[in-house]
Amino acid sequence: MATDVITLITQDHRVVEGLFERLKKKQGDQKATVAELHALLIAHARAEEDRVYPGIDAHHSVEEHKEAEVLLDALVRAEPGTAEFAKTLDELIASVTHHVEEEETKLLPSLKKSAGAKELEQLGRAFKQRRAEELQALAGTGDGATKAELYEQAQKADIPGRSHMGKEELEQALRHAKS
Ligand SMILES: [Fe+2]
Ligand SMILES: [Fe+2]
Repeated sequence: MATDVITLITQDHRVVEGLFERLKKKQGDQKATVAELHALLIAHARAEEDRVYPGIDAHHSVEEHKEAEVLLDALVRAEPGTAEFAKTLDELIASVTHHVEEEETKLLPSLKKSAGAKELEQLGRAFKQRRAEELQALAGTGDGATKAELYEQAQKADIPGRSHMGKEELEQALRHAKS
């Protein structure tokens, strides 16, 4: 099984596009699909930012992640079937599609040029591990509120910077907001 970072990132992009299709065609449980999309996009973006982008000039890409996360937050809050949901979904798809295209035509090809096969494998392992950590944190461990639940509370309380917070930071910020 290929574990080079470019293959792994590209695979995620295709899965995200599949989820977009399901939402556009209103197939299945929309809320569940949005939750799946949210977890995948956040874990993917964190893993890119922490393990892949540091070696390359990716400032612009980080800005685009932030833009997508704001729209993702809005989509989680919107009720499927409403005009608000459809509009936010369109905006999110446009934003992510643009970002993915840039990553696949500029960032990843230049990474491929500058890194050797061995380094791409190492980056792939690091990306995979960071992504799994984030997915696990989002799903929770069974003790108390899951990170996803804390994140939802943070959205309601409109805590700034929440999408970049870990579970403990979210707990702390929520305690502050309530006191
Ligand atoms: Fe990506
Ligand atoms: Fe990205």
